[in-house]
Amino acid sequence: MKTAKKVLFWTLVVFALIQFIPVDKVNKPIDRKVNFVEVKNTPEKIRGLIKGACYDCHSNETVYPKYAYFAPISWSVKSHINEGREHLNFSVWNTYSKELKESMLNKAVQTIQSKAMPMPGYIVYHKEANLSEAERTLLVQYFEEMLKSKSY
Ligand code: HEC
Repeated sequence: MKTAKKVLFWTLVVFALIQFIPVDKVNKPIDRKVNFVEVKNTPEKIRGLIKGACYDCHSNETVYPKYAYFAPISWSVKSHINEGREHLNFSVWNTYSKELKESMLNKAVQTIQSKAMPMPGYIVYHKEANLSEAERTLLVQYFEEMLKSKSY
């Protein structure tokens, strides 16, 4: 019993201490001139889908959920966001080359179809990202049209 109490005590101490390790949650300012939905003048419905299902990890407009304020969950959330932005950041869309845009749109279509995106773990806590089949089709069609007309 004594050891169990000690283990519990030190676990709590460590848990309390790791809360002080800073996690940067400040979003970079948005430049509307290069922001995907602005540049593409994305229709309201599609805009809502992209913003609701992708923007938390693939833009500089991340809205951090409450659970993102507790270490070590905050570290995992932040690393997904960093990684997501590295792969595709809609906020800086117009700074990408044509080739990069084309490849990102292709991958977006693939990942939406295969249900790799939005990340399955994220959907559990974000109802708006739990896209229906019809919503997935809408998004895929939107990106595919852009690919076909080469208007990325
Ligand atoms: C919870 C965070 C999160 C959300 C929400 C999310 N993504 Fe991602 N996305 C990631 C991470 C992390 C990666 C990089 C690791 C990987 O490929 O799994 C990634 C990678 C990608 C890639 C690159 C894949 C590759 O093969 O290079 C594309 C494209 C993508 N996401 C599109 C989307 C689209 C479109 C949405 C919305 C429908 C979305 N993601 C929603 C976190 C997210």
